[in-house]
Amino acid sequence: MNNIPTVMIIFGGSGDLAHRKIYPALFNLYRSGLIHDNFAVIGTARRPWSHEYLRGQVADAVHETYGEVDETDLEAFASHFYYQSHDVTNVEHYVTLKKLAQELDERYSCQGNRIFYMAMAPSFFGTIAEHIADQKLTGSGFNRLVVEKPFGTSLETAEVLNKQINGSFDEEQVFRIDHYLGKEMVQNILPLRLSNPMIKSIWNKDCIKNIQVTLAERLGVEARGGYYDASGAMRDMVQNHIFQIITLLAMPEPASLADTDIHAAKEALLDSLEIPDEAEVAAGFVRGQYGGTETTFAYTSEPNVDPESKTETFVAGRVKFDQGPLAGVPIYFRTGKEMKEKRTRIDIVLKDMAGIYGETGENSITIEVDPASEICLTINGKTIQGGGLRRERLAYKFSPEEQAQVPDGYERLIHDVFVNDSTNFTKWKELKRYWEFVDAVEDAWQKQNESGQKPLTYAPYKMGPAESKQIFANPTDHWIY
Ligand code: BG6
Repeated sequence: MNNIPTVMIIFGGSGDLAHRKIYPALFNLYRSGLIHDNFAVIGTARRPWSHEYLRGQVADAVHETYGEVDETDLEAFASHFYYQSHDVTNVEHYVTLKKLAQELDERYSCQGNRIFYMAMAPSFFGTIAEHIADQKLTGSGFNRLVVEKPFGTSLETAEVLNKQINGSFDEEQVFRIDHYLGKEMVQNILPLRLSNPMIKSIWNKDCIKNIQVTLAERLGVEARGGYYDASGAMRDMVQNHIFQIITLLAMPEPASLADTDIHAAKEALLDSLEIPDEAEVAAGFVRGQYGGTETTFAYTSEPNVDPESKTETFVAGRVKFDQGPLAGVPIYFRTGKEMKEKRTRIDIVLKDMAGIYGETGENSITIEVDPASEICLTINGKTIQGGGLRRERLAYKFSPEEQAQVPDGYERLIHDVFVNDSTNFTKWKELKRYWEFVDAVEDAWQKQNESGQKPLTYAPYKMGPAESKQIFANPTDHWIY
């Protein structure tokens, strides 16, 4: 892999995301040669750290993720890190930051290339973007901006942020991270659909009865009550991760694998996304909040959560497109905190076409994303004795050795930023459509709240409220997981 010269500036350099994900990912990219001699990283944040202290933190982060590593390598890697204490609202600090970036650019021959990484509280993204433009922090080579989620809290706020960003970055320079797009089995959706004639030929509205996407989490909101209470499952998980998965499942075949063609196919699909009205939200969506047990808090008793909160920690709903291979096919989703287990799973349920065998078990294709990486076909076969049918699962599984080789999603996505591949990032037009959908649901819920309706309370560590089975568009649909 080529050594790509760059000065990277990380806003939020003392934060948890940088420590857990970004520094270890950069170390692996360094070991593989993608960044080597000609790079420098500036970590910026409020805390008064020194360069040495940051380097120690980087080394700790690498050890925590990978255990023992080659210490000479690690020391050489960490020597490329610099720290600049920074108040994001103070103009002077951007001037100092610019100077440091220029100095490091010369020292490491970075050819004016810059990657700006926003890895801090989203309320500062807009301010930082404006200062980058006003103080002309961009370099004379390539300039790329990486933005973490959430990108806005509604279409309106997302539009404001986008405008602020567009002051110094064009759309093709913006890399909006959705870490689900870095996951192995999410990246496997298009190859599964499009490289197998057997699957490609049934991927249409005549053969597929419905699709079910489940992103279940075992944990509650933990220390993030403050953030979560202003967000909820719909904004936290559906607006981004669930919609990106659904888009990959329902988009038409792109003209090629080029990132521009992939995004064009996604946009064509999303133009036909049906935005739900109040009646559709009432019929097709269920929201819930986890209750407590003797040993665990109910959501409304969690730290930093309003005891009267109507924020949902669970949502089940349905999505439909008018165009594309699955036009009119119901796509159901659900996600929640404190569910039975941590599991991300996609079920594609086929129509019953068994003919002379009468009613049979449904054929389905299951993509297990987390914690296992697996694709599984459920089919009917003959019982050994007697004339009946039995169900069989045919699985394509990763061996433990293969599973161990799967890179972390962040490493993949950061690599893609370096090589300027935007395939697995969210483009503005996609994001805009997702927000239109989410805003419509949130508005309908707001009206429900005003008329005294609340999210349902569900027992923790199960599959959410039993009422989630009421969202089905067809009487024979049911959750298969
Ligand atoms: C994040 C959400 O985007 O995704 C969290 O903000 C959630 O609330 C997390 O826990 C889930 O990610 P993963 O990769 O653990 O499924």
